[in-house]
Amino acid sequence: MRTFRKDFFWGGATAANQFEGAWNVDGKGPSVSDMCTNGTKDTPKRITATIEENTLYPSHEAIDFYHHYKEDIKLFADMGFNVFRFSIAWTRIFPTGMEQEPNEAGLAFYDNVIDECRKYNIEPLITISHYEMPYALVEKYNGWYGRECIELFERYCHAIFERYKDKVVYWLTFNEINSGTMPMGNVLSLGTVQGYTGPITGVKDDPKIRYQALHHQFVASARVVKYAHDNYPQFKMGNMICFMTTYPATCKPDDMLKAQSEMRMKNWFCSDIMVRGCYPEYADRYFEENDIRIKMEDGDLDIIKEGTVDFYTFSYYMSICASTDENEKLTGGNLMGGVKNPYLEASDWGWQIDPKGLRYTLNAIYDRYHIPMMVVENGLGAVDKVEADGTINDDYRIDYLRKHIIEMKEAVKDGVDLMGYTPWGCIDLVSASTGEMAKRYGFIYVDKHDDGTGTLARSKKKSFDWFKGVIESNGEKL
Ligand code: BG6
Repeated sequence: MRTFRKDFFWGGATAANQFEGAWNVDGKGPSVSDMCTNGTKDTPKRITATIEENTLYPSHEAIDFYHHYKEDIKLFADMGFNVFRFSIAWTRIFPTGMEQEPNEAGLAFYDNVIDECRKYNIEPLITISHYEMPYALVEKYNGWYGRECIELFERYCHAIFERYKDKVVYWLTFNEINSGTMPMGNVLSLGTVQGYTGPITGVKDDPKIRYQALHHQFVASARVVKYAHDNYPQFKMGNMICFMTTYPATCKPDDMLKAQSEMRMKNWFCSDIMVRGCYPEYADRYFEENDIRIKMEDGDLDIIKEGTVDFYTFSYYMSICASTDENEKLTGGNLMGGVKNPYLEASDWGWQIDPKGLRYTLNAIYDRYHIPMMVVENGLGAVDKVEADGTINDDYRIDYLRKHIIEMKEAVKDGVDLMGYTPWGCIDLVSASTGEMAKRYGFIYVDKHDDGTGTLARSKKKSFDWFKGVIESNGEKL
């Protein structure tokens, strides 16, 4: 029977804007995330066109990985990580995104981080753009709506490829690129919020702008993938999708069709382009019905064909249902909610917990593309309690992760080619959707709170030793 590869990647995942802090240190410029205040489950965070006084911007300090990276990477090594997924902040390398030359201090910081990983035989897995576009590009071009961003992104990629070519192999171009198929993508990934101040849920959404901006990201991704393949044949280039597995709420044929169409436009559309190298036929109808006419230049479709990825990666937290019955109960979710599934429980933030859905999803992806895959985000956002003796007994998190690993194993037995697993927020960090610290995912607790206070001290949760055992046994001891 198949089991996890001997060289299976076990580790954790993070993003610069959610954990580095030092938002304006050593020449770094502001990113979209740096303009976002905190929020809660019920009150959306706000994006502001200028930095407001007496307002908390969680990314500005975050958990200050910038000054704690040695301590943190040592803890990852103690847990047995052989991979660490993190992102490079574009704004550390090109503070406005438009400079001609990269910022040496920014490049040096990531040299240090990568070298520290390598010291412990931890393979860096780098996300090139994780919800942290330079804010100056929002001001100048309305984010990715401006075609100019393609070239600027290439400049950034060329700089980091050349600098880290001897010590990085695995790269992901855009985190959760399919967020651009949803209104949340305006703020998070596309930066199409020029001049806007207000709740992130209040951005005026124009799908025509969104899909145009997304097209520019496809071209940018394909160009740098091709460039990497041509110049650095040792590189392995991946995509990254937020997978929100969508079941039909009933076996009513209308519900089946609705679920199929949601699966296509929300989950498959971007990877069909990035893995198969062309826009899928089903998108034509969607574009026609929504009056979306993407402006393309000569050569765009050729480069999309030539710049396809080597491996497929995705985040998986939850599943939802689709229904044609408008009276169905709704539930929350990552990037978007959906119809409630009566068979599933949900986290405190309303994300439905569905480990078997991960097996289903892995199989569906592998059936479709047949390339190696990696689960680069998964986990339970929960409130942790520090006991009087300092321990943190996060059995709920262990339970969540254990059940998902069991299902990954089943999927491997089913035949999928799974390269690795990097649970999200291996060290507590700022929540992307709400800006909270209270929504914790880590094996490592960080003393940092929603009001910005805290000593930033790190401590191990119960899940730390549990995950260490999982890694040591290559997923046998669960
Ligand atoms: C993914 C993102 O959508 O989910 C991460 O890639 C994010 O950036 C993670 O943090 C969990 O979401 P949240 O909102 O709980 O932080």
